[in-house]
Amino acid sequence: MSGAGLRYLVFLGSVRASGPPYPERLGLRVARACLGWLDAGADRAALVDPLDLQWPSAFKPHFAYRAADMPADLGELARQIAAADGYVMVSPEYNHSMSPALAHLLNHFGSSLFGFKPSAIVTYSAGQWGGARAAVGMRTFLAELGCLPVSAMVHVPRAHEVFDEDGRVREAAREAEWSGYFGRAFGQLEWWAAAARAGRAAQDPSAVSPAFRRDVAARNAPGGGDAP
Ligand SMILES: Cc1cc2nc3c(=O)[nH]c(=O)nc-3n(C[C@H](O)[C@H](O)[C@H](O)COP(=O)(O)O)c2cc1C
Repeated sequence: MSGAGLRYLVFLGSVRASGPPYPERLGLRVARACLGWLDAGADRAALVDPLDLQWPSAFKPHFAYRAADMPADLGELARQIAAADGYVMVSPEYNHSMSPALAHLLNHFGSSLFGFKPSAIVTYSAGQWGGARAAVGMRTFLAELGCLPVSAMVHVPRAHEVFDEDGRVREAAREAEWSGYFGRAFGQLEWWAAAARAGRAAQDPSAVSPAFRRDVAARNAPGGGDAP
């Protein structure tokens, strides 16, 4: 199965401003490490940094806007999500959970944009657990979003000791180990992305699973009543 031409988006789940707790906004270096390994110089992956995005702070998902009122950044990110073949979700652990910034960002988009494509979970922390507890809940979240997470997960404890600010492994002697660790998850991502691309070309997913439009009750089991 060929991975030629596949495109990935790397979502960074931190909107932290400068200041303590130190080190500051640790996630950027983890996202950069992901971009380096995914890209391999081929321009296959792009960073989604929530600090670069602007739209109204009152929550209104992408699908609730009319085209004429759509904030430019929201419309553009929706286009990129639809065009991508797979996703890497980079999240810190905040209170043993996935980053609220990542959840909030992703909540703006429906499963019709993410669905029938794979994702990879990459978590990190300044401490010793590498975000493993956050990752558990991310599986559920991403499965509901339709971009099923591959089985191999990446957890980076003490990420500031592992990567420099450009996302390079600090300890040259450990570069191959880290590359192999990320590579296992990204290899799975690539396999599923290629398979899903072929599957989408063979059959339009909306034919077997029409997108929910306005009514959340469309998810209900038959006879389940009106409440969402
Ligand atoms: C509100 C908050 C909650 C945190 N909760 C946890 C936690 O549950 N587990 C953990 O290992 N680290 C936790 N940390 C420490 C983060 O791992 C560390 O601050 C990391 O740098 C956060 O990523 P960021 O800098 O990219 O935002 C927490 C940090 C903050 C600010």
